[in-house]
Amino acid sequence: MEKRENWSSRLSFILAAVGSAVGLGNAWRFPGLCAKDGGGAFLVAYIIAMVVIGVPLLAMEIAIGRKSQAGAPKAMRLINKKAEFVGWAATSNAFFILTYYAVVFAWCILMTIVSFKFATSASDVDTAGSLWMNEIGVTWGTSFKGAGGNIPVALLVCVLIAWGFIYGCIRKGTSRVSKVVKYTVFLPVAMLVILAIKGFINNDRLGDALGALFIPKWESFGDPKLWIDAIGQAFYSLSIMMAIMFAYGSYVSRSETIAEDAMIIAVADFACSVLSGIVLFTTMYQTGRTVDDMSASGIATAFIIYPQSIVMLTNVPALNAIFGFVFYFMLCTLAVDSAFSILEGVSAAVADKFLLDKKKTTKMIAIIAGLISIVYTTGAGVGWLDIVDNWTNQYTLIIIGILEAICVGWFCNTKYVLDEVNLNTKAKGFKMPKWWFYGSVKYVAPAILAVLLVWQMINLGKAGFRYNAADYALAAEIIGGWIVTVLCFASGFIVKFACKHTKRGRTILALEAKEPTWAELNEKQELAEDFEMEVMKEEHVDVQDGKIVDDVVNDEPVVSAPATEDKQ
Ligand code: PHE
Repeated sequence: MEKRENWSSRLSFILAAVGSAVGLGNAWRFPGLCAKDGGGAFLVAYIIAMVVIGVPLLAMEIAIGRKSQAGAPKAMRLINKKAEFVGWAATSNAFFILTYYAVVFAWCILMTIVSFKFATSASDVDTAGSLWMNEIGVTWGTSFKGAGGNIPVALLVCVLIAWGFIYGCIRKGTSRVSKVVKYTVFLPVAMLVILAIKGFINNDRLGDALGALFIPKWESFGDPKLWIDAIGQAFYSLSIMMAIMFAYGSYVSRSETIAEDAMIIAVADFACSVLSGIVLFTTMYQTGRTVDDMSASGIATAFIIYPQSIVMLTNVPALNAIFGFVFYFMLCTLAVDSAFSILEGVSAAVADKFLLDKKKTTKMIAIIAGLISIVYTTGAGVGWLDIVDNWTNQYTLIIIGILEAICVGWFCNTKYVLDEVNLNTKAKGFKMPKWWFYGSVKYVAPAILAVLLVWQMINLGKAGFRYNAADYALAAEIIGGWIVTVLCFASGFIVKFACKHTKRGRTILALEAKEPTWAELNEKQELAEDFEMEVMKEEHVDVQDGKIVDDVVNDEPVVSAPATEDKQ
């Protein structure tokens, strides 16, 4: 069997994972939630959610991905043969998120292109506020009749460009990704820093802005919604429960320490969220707005309120236009590596299960998702997007979280997973303690998530099982909400059914029946590693402190020597 591709270096993996994690969620969802849930109170709840649930589950997904060398469904099968459907649920959920994330990315491209308009409407706040609405022709409803069915050509072109970028970056696998993320991770951070510095200059309401962001409103801690939002955001932001980290983990080399990587990824992600918070809050306050003007969904904040702030920033229209350009271009660079990571997660899942060619699979999935994304370019698109976004994030993500944690905590040998997380931890390196990992995966994560889910359900019931009855048609909520959710959890069973009833499918099932278990894999890997050591010794390669030291005069680093007969 062909060897699975690996990240070219540890940094490549970390950057790719950070690129996936740091996205539009950090840029506006996070500040929006801070505004809604009591500023610093949300910050504190979010840190707790990250530490208690986010980091252990992130490390867990990467570890299972690496061990299984496969995308989510196959990876979950290594945990337990019956758990494959959980991997499919994560994959399908990611697929639905991908369909609309691409369109949000396209909005950012569109706004970057039309940002010159900020120079002409300097005094006209309303024009700036309605720029996005007019460009995409949003109706805020869900009916495709009349204006709801219109597709603005400019937006359609931007969606095409967005897909071009998404597909172009991931097409060649990890090698291309490694190159792309060097730019798409550092560029937005640099721009965020510039925008944050700008927020500090000439800002007579700086104190209010920072106070609103960092000082907790104590009464908010009693509000369950704060905790739901914090946990949902931790999942969303770390890109877990979305098949992505299994896939990215499957390309991680065995010499890397996952516990450390997961910490680095989480800290970087958090830092970017806080930085975005500073950018959004300082700009808003500078132009006379408060937290009450920021919406939690963030769409309105990023595309309606922020543009209004942009044109009020300075008296020089051209300068405002430049700020606008930098901001939206930054959003584009944030969005692209998150978007292609979702495509990768879905594509790895499908290609690994059905033993398909990876490139062709990626292309097919991009085309199908691209066609579906056209729905969100219509006038009714924002309504549909809002519905799908709400269900995929508020319900499906949480349920997948519960299932994954239960499977790993109770239906497999949890120690194996933790060992994989801590593999290669050096004496002074960070090691995930057993109490933290076990406590989270076995008890805290499933329990807290279950409580939150029940609470969500009760609220939904109170609202007549409607999300937004005032603006959205029942049919739209049923299709975009319920049916999408049911499809996610049914997908694993549909795949199984399809496999049982096709010839190729039966072959795949027969092959899977012979797959090694985690314990067998451990044994195999140990044997292989011992063998490699032997071979290296014979080739005069020294191993000191777990590092390979090549004593042959040679600049090339020694990669594990292939164990062939003729080498000896
Ligand atoms: N983590 C990304 C963000 O914060 C969002 C994301 C969602 C990425 C889904 C991939 C998949 O924006």
